[in-house]
Amino acid sequence: MTTGSIETKPMSTEPLILWETDGHVGIVRLNRPKVLNALNPQLMTQLAEQMEAFDAEKEIHVILLAGSERAFAAGADIGDMAERSMLQMYERDQFATWDRIRRIKKPIVAAVSGYALGGGCELMMMCDVVIASETTQIGQPEINIGVMPGAGGTQRLTRAVGKATAMDVILTGRFLTAAEALAAGLVSRVVPPEHFFSEALNIAQALAAKGPIALRLAKEAVLKAFETTLAQGLEHERKLFYMLFGTQDQKEGMRAFVEKRKPHFKGE
Ligand code: HXC
Repeated sequence: MTTGSIETKPMSTEPLILWETDGHVGIVRLNRPKVLNALNPQLMTQLAEQMEAFDAEKEIHVILLAGSERAFAAGADIGDMAERSMLQMYERDQFATWDRIRRIKKPIVAAVSGYALGGGCELMMMCDVVIASETTQIGQPEINIGVMPGAGGTQRLTRAVGKATAMDVILTGRFLTAAEALAAGLVSRVVPPEHFFSEALNIAQALAAKGPIALRLAKEAVLKAFETTLAQGLEHERKLFYMLFGTQDQKEGMRAFVEKRKPHFKGE
């Protein structure tokens, strides 16, 4: 196992994120426990850099993004934003980093527990498979501090749960329980708090045993469903499906089935 941390914030004694690898899984942990993993721009930059590094590393097939048991992330760092002017916010273009995470091609599993609020909820919604502990509370409470979601909350939440629940969550600022989030289609699975990380890792490991090219293209195809008409989405899906017949992994996967053995995918 390889581990590491990145420290960029001057004067800070704790790294903003921690990373390690476990087999073919690249793990990133948010690491600002004192402020419930509030997402400041420095942390987001480091997160994007580490995810891009995992995305480029052939041995890594799946990325696992985790917070702590108390908080996945309680939102963007309010202290960092409080006194900024419109122009300062506009010019620093902090969402450019979020766009980098949006372009990650490998599947991202989220291990979520405690608070996933504001930018924390928005970051969670940029992940692909969300494993949530029973203690998870999910919300977009920006309305309570005089603003609104800015990193995709109004768009991704509405697409995930529909207008009625999205309006309720965004306009009232109330938190959804894990059970509500599961019923609404916002998280993939709910597990006991003591298992949220291990379960997410198990699922990431299970994904990592699949064909890595098929994983990436399947992610791309599902995400297309948010951006196209049905006809365009079907067309795109079909092309990606045909593309997989140009891979060794397709031959290996189908031959292994016929030969009644386990496939060994190489990502080729
Ligand atoms: C900065 C934060 C923070 C945040 C919590 N803290 N959330 N600091 N930004 N988003 C800090 C607190 O100030 C406190 O620091 C410490 O973390 C522990 O929090 P408490 O409030 O003491 O804990 P608790 O009473 O358990 O309440 C938890 C909470 C509450 C319900 C999550 O902290 C809260 O409401 N936080 C803000 C949630 C929010 O509004 N998020 C949206 C942010 S705007 P001290 O120093 O006092 O111990 C946003 C816009 C996204 O996300 C746009 C794109 C980037």
